[in-house]
Amino acid sequence: MMKTLPSVGLRPYSEDDFSILKQSNTPEMTAYLGGPETEEKLLSRHNRYVDIPDTGKGYMFVIWVDELPVGMIGYWEHADKGEIVWETGWGVLPAYQGRGIAVAAIHALVEKARSEGKHRFLHAYPRVDNGSSNALCRNAGFEFVEVCDFEYPAGNPIRCNDWQMDLLAEH
Ligand SMILES: CC(C)(COP(=O)(O)OP(=O)(O)OC[C@H]1O[C@@H](n2cnc3c(N)ncnc32)[C@H](O)[C@@H]1OP(=O)(O)O)[C@@H](O)C(=O)NCCC(=O)NCCS
Repeated sequence: MMKTLPSVGLRPYSEDDFSILKQSNTPEMTAYLGGPETEEKLLSRHNRYVDIPDTGKGYMFVIWVDELPVGMIGYWEHADKGEIVWETGWGVLPAYQGRGIAVAAIHALVEKARSEGKHRFLHAYPRVDNGSSNALCRNAGFEFVEVCDFEYPAGNPIRCNDWQMDLLAEH
């Protein structure tokens, strides 16, 4: 039976959103992403997120529920076997996890990527041992492609599951 998903809003990440990035920079939130970043790296990530829409090569959003910022989700260009696809990544703060917020945020993001119409495929590459993110991909309608080698952060090799969504298909 389909669960009722919470109502979420995606607002473009802005200058004012550094605090949600900081709250996401904990050992728990970054366990599958290489661990917390230094203040300097976090600040450059913040600037990247603020600037990225101007490039047309990606977007980062803050996930809002009941007028509270509860996480982040984005999509950006990635070369996958010689083809440019959208890659997505996400985080929901621990206090808000387990309520379907991430599934709802993916649905909202898919609508944006679909209406933009730039690339046909949206991929996600959670680490093979990232139980919640792999469950999330399955629940949100991604199809499993294969296990693959990935680098995250740059220079750090990891084994990931490649999940794909066809933005042209009916969901
Ligand atoms: C991944 C994440 C965004 C999920 O957020 P969320 O709002 O709790 O997700 P949802 O409630 O929409 O769904 C999570 C699903 O994972 C399942 N899950 C949670 N922990 C799990 C685990 N260890 N193993 C398997 N499934 C798990 C939940 O049961 C739920 O599935 P269900 O609805 O079928 O029960 C959150 O855990 C997070 O921020 N993690 C840290 C950041 C991260 O690793 N990002 C990955 C980038 S690829």
